[in-house]
Amino acid sequence: MSALVSEVGTRTAVAAANLVKVYGKGDTAVRALDGVSVAFEAGKFTAIMGPSGSGKSTMMHCLAGLDNVDGGAVQIGGTEITSLGDKDLTKLRRDRIGFVFQAFNLLPTLSAEANILLGLELAGRKPDRQWFDTIVDVLGLRDRLRHKPTELSGGQQQRVACARALVAKPDVVFADEPTGNLDSRSGAEVLDFLRMSVRKLGQTVIMVTHDPVAASYADRVVLMADGHLAGEIDNPTADSVLSALKHLGA
Ligand SMILES: Nc1ncnc2c1ncn2[C@@H]1O[C@H](COP(=O)(O)OP(=O)(O)OP(=O)(O)O)[C@@H](O)[C@H]1O
Ligand SMILES: [Mg+2]
Repeated sequence: MSALVSEVGTRTAVAAANLVKVYGKGDTAVRALDGVSVAFEAGKFTAIMGPSGSGKSTMMHCLAGLDNVDGGAVQIGGTEITSLGDKDLTKLRRDRIGFVFQAFNLLPTLSAEANILLGLELAGRKPDRQWFDTIVDVLGLRDRLRHKPTELSGGQQQRVACARALVAKPDVVFADEPTGNLDSRSGAEVLDFLRMSVRKLGQTVIMVTHDPVAASYADRVVLMADGHLAGEIDNPTADSVLSALKHLGA
């Protein structure tokens, strides 16, 4: 019975069907995505892994509408984004997607608080102050809100980026190597937060990472190789991820 209930409760946050992405033309063309079909369940933390050049970032950019595709379709929260015009796509990205990048991408002239709220402001939306407070407290940023990015450590800057990604309550947060520039302790804090945002706040997170330990924070790992899906692991551990990657020759 409980299995049935959880099955009924399952929602797909992001889905891709037969995604194709080709860079360049003729002899030098690279099929970075060669017919990828994959679905990401809402309220789950998924890590995307695979060798360098396997198409992880390309897939994430196509899923998030940051890059256009050469074939196939992407749906976010039931909306097919691959057929949207630029204006609608920009709006959808702003309203329904949060991003965390390896390089933090904070605006240097703005305080931490202003960085967190910038997206909402640009969208003309009022922040939910209670939600803002929850995120800021969970991330331990309360006494850093007036600081500029250069006055923050790397880990703190990435926590600001996480707060910025979550404050608009997006359908999905995409993170590309969010711990790539952090020492292991700051990285663990960011990963703890991403996992907590899934478990406690119901967020959906899709993260690209090279690090088997980072991937072990996820509920599921999707493996890529040569622009294809090459398998998946439920409830991954660092060891199970490492051995799967070894089989892929990563
Ligand atoms: N803008 C581009 N122009 C041409 N080729 C590209 C471009 N971006 C990516 N590629 C190629 O597409 C393939 C997939 O690249 P992608 O960046 O998605 O890999 P990745 O799995 O994210 O790798 P990494 O782990 O090194 O970040 C690679 O062969 C890459 O060289
Ligand atoms: Mg990449």
